[in-house]
Amino acid sequence: MTDQHNLDVAVVGATGAVGAELLRCLERRGFPVGRLKPLASARSAGRTVEFRGAPLAVEALSSDSFAGVDLAFFAASNAVSRAYAPLAVAEGCRVVDNSSAYRLEPDAPLVVPEVNGEALAGRPALVANPNCVAAISVMALAPIHRRNPIQRVIGSTYQAASGAGAAAMDELKAATAAALAGETFEPQVLPHPYGFNLFSHNTAIDPATGYNGEETKVMAELRKILGAPDLRISFTCIRVPVPRAHSMALTVECERPLAPEDVEAWMAEAAGMRLVNDAAANRYPMPIEASGRDEVLVGRIRRDLSDPSGRSVSLFLSGDQLLKGAALNAVQIAEALIA
Ligand SMILES: NC(=O)c1ccc[n+]([C@@H]2O[C@H](COP(=O)([O-])OP(=O)(O)OC[C@H]3O[C@@H](n4cnc5c(N)ncnc54)[C@H](OP(=O)(O)O)[C@@H]3O)[C@@H](O)[C@H]2O)c1
Repeated sequence: MTDQHNLDVAVVGATGAVGAELLRCLERRGFPVGRLKPLASARSAGRTVEFRGAPLAVEALSSDSFAGVDLAFFAASNAVSRAYAPLAVAEGCRVVDNSSAYRLEPDAPLVVPEVNGEALAGRPALVANPNCVAAISVMALAPIHRRNPIQRVIGSTYQAASGAGAAAMDELKAATAAALAGETFEPQVLPHPYGFNLFSHNTAIDPATGYNGEETKVMAELRKILGAPDLRISFTCIRVPVPRAHSMALTVECERPLAPEDVEAWMAEAAGMRLVNDAAANRYPMPIEASGRDEVLVGRIRRDLSDPSGRSVSLFLSGDQLLKGAALNAVQIAEALIA
């Protein structure tokens, strides 16, 4: 690796929703970038992206892209990560991958630094960044699980358009404008009209289980990050007409009884969490307040009255899925890799 105060850093997918946030996170966190190489598809040749106030020409990704590069963030697609991450690693480049290509591979650590940062101790060549719902929800689950092992999680999500990429965010605006104008709207990116609507997550249903691809990923990834392979989990993932920041309702059943007041105290002191739990003002986490923030907002912490044993609590979260659910978490991983 080059002098670690002056690293050559590549961002694959620099023109996308996550890529744009990666550039901003690297800049605002003072990551020691010497040279930044923005990479995208051949469609983006001729485009520029801005880094530290200067325009940088986007290059088309190729098998030669990683010569001399110390660290590469991948934020394109599974196919791109599968094809190019091994080439980058072969060049001696460390990879932090935002796609789901490697997340469940036994050799690839799947990391949220506040939760299982110890998995980075051996400075692995490739680290997987979790699914956005997994990364955000585990921020609240881990502080509970450490004190009182979780036995079961039931989750429902309210997922933002930008979770499906920059084009989906644009489609939300166009679909909403059409709905306001009373016009019909033919969706191009998502399966259904998005204006004043919500729908089951746009990933395919597994006919064997009835769960969609997003739900299946979240459940498997949470087990891996928490190191709890037998954890019972069920999620329902829904797209809602919100531009940015995913919200989720979680009900958590633990090994022993627990008090909501204790859970509130654990959340208040957990790194990367912000308590928004004002019953008098009926003020709880909202995506509009989570957007653009590093912290995951948590509130509505209460006993689950459907469990008379007192071992279950319910809570509500909002977190910016482009930040803690993607770019911020990836940059935190990279910071640990070069520390
Ligand atoms: N959005 C989220 O909240 C989120 C959260 C966690 C993880 N992720 C994951 O992060 C990745 C990026 O998601 P996104 O939301 O940022 O998508 P996006 O907005 O659609 O951006 C995709 C990026 O990938 C580039 N790309 C596409 N095909 C390529 C190719 N053949 N070679 C090189 N670059 C190519 C695009 O470049 P062009 O502009 O040239 O097409 C663009 O820069 C995905 O794997 C996604 O699952 C997303």
